[in-house]
Amino acid sequence: MAEDKPLAVVTCTAPVNIAVIKYWGKRDEELILPINSSLSVTLHQDQLKTTTSAAISRDFTEDRLWLNGKEDDIGQPRLQSCLREIRRLARKRHSGNGNSGDSSSRRSSLSLAYKVHIASENNFPTAAGLASSAAGFACLVYTLAKLYGVEGELSEVARQGSGSACRSMFGGFVQWVMGQNADGKDSIAQQVAPETHWPKLRVLILVVSAEKKHVGSTAGMQTSVKTSLLLKHRAEALVPERMSQMTQHIQQRDFEAFGELTMKDSNQFHATCLDTFPPIFYLNDISKQVVALVHRYNAHCGKTKVAYTFDAGPNAVLFMLDDTVDEFVDVVKRSFPPENNGGQFLKGLPVGSATPSEELLSAVVRDPTPGAIQYMLLTKPGPGPALVEDASCHLLGADGLPRSSS
Ligand code: DP6
Repeated sequence: MAEDKPLAVVTCTAPVNIAVIKYWGKRDEELILPINSSLSVTLHQDQLKTTTSAAISRDFTEDRLWLNGKEDDIGQPRLQSCLREIRRLARKRHSGNGNSGDSSSRRSSLSLAYKVHIASENNFPTAAGLASSAAGFACLVYTLAKLYGVEGELSEVARQGSGSACRSMFGGFVQWVMGQNADGKDSIAQQVAPETHWPKLRVLILVVSAEKKHVGSTAGMQTSVKTSLLLKHRAEALVPERMSQMTQHIQQRDFEAFGELTMKDSNQFHATCLDTFPPIFYLNDISKQVVALVHRYNAHCGKTKVAYTFDAGPNAVLFMLDDTVDEFVDVVKRSFPPENNGGQFLKGLPVGSATPSEELLSAVVRDPTPGAIQYMLLTKPGPGPALVEDASCHLLGADGLPRSSS
């Protein structure tokens, strides 16, 4: 902690994750403890990331927060939980040194009383259904921990910001173990395999709609827990087995088995949404067309080469191996021709050209729907949160205010 300077500022980045065994439902709303374990793939930060800067100074008069350049409410309970928890861990760590009389620990406890300024930005549309809250809270917790010199288990803190955020504290393939304890100490994320484990795996995101979602996941899962017997059955009887199957498929890099279970688990999650009363619909007609397209493609290939998963919104996240990307992207372009942003239709990692056979196209492409997909983004599994050393990347200036806003 650089508390000698008038302003100490730290900047970090954190990734988005996409669940292949879904988290849906809490047993404790306050601590954010889930009714089942879940498993996700961390996406590469070259394509999707949150950047957060946090600063402390004796000159700050209050804690303040800016999201994407605009001042926001720092009083939000979940944000306060994360801030309180990191400050508590920092206090514990500094008092645990047992030398409370020395000048460094006096400086540390003094700086704990200082107010904090936090600025956070996404390089992708917030609330577009791309798990911005997961990357956002993971980044907040990681940055505050670096600022206050807190080390060790942090997924438990990120979980208190947003459940899925705990999985963004690691790269690669990550499980969130639901835990048993009432205090949530055993409800933590763990890496199943690093991001280098499956170099051929690719993730293609089809952004169907950048509109804000209708029923947020927090409210949606509350109603599901109260009303869906299917969700209860899923959590108790089906997910434990699926967790170990999915871990095995990942360890063995068995794409067909991984893909099939990913699709089935997404479908089961959306089935529990339909079983919620009143029912919740996250998939729209375009999402359903994507589901049908993937199944037609796999049927034509005679095996699972592409797998879809959908969260609490209509965007599709597709998994495939690198040798399938060029052909499948071509199929998507023909099925959902870009309307007016042809140049910007494909973002992220480069895609080569493909010439699918007439036989494939006539079997797979049906009733093209122009403009239904805004853009595609190609990415791959990536690493966990990281400290940004380059001071020019700080989102807060020397005055402790956002650099972009004046
Ligand atoms: C469908 O983590 O956003 O994306 O814990 O209430 O913040 P809160 O919910 P959130 O829920 C994510 C639900 C999901 C599935 C998943 O990511 O596992």
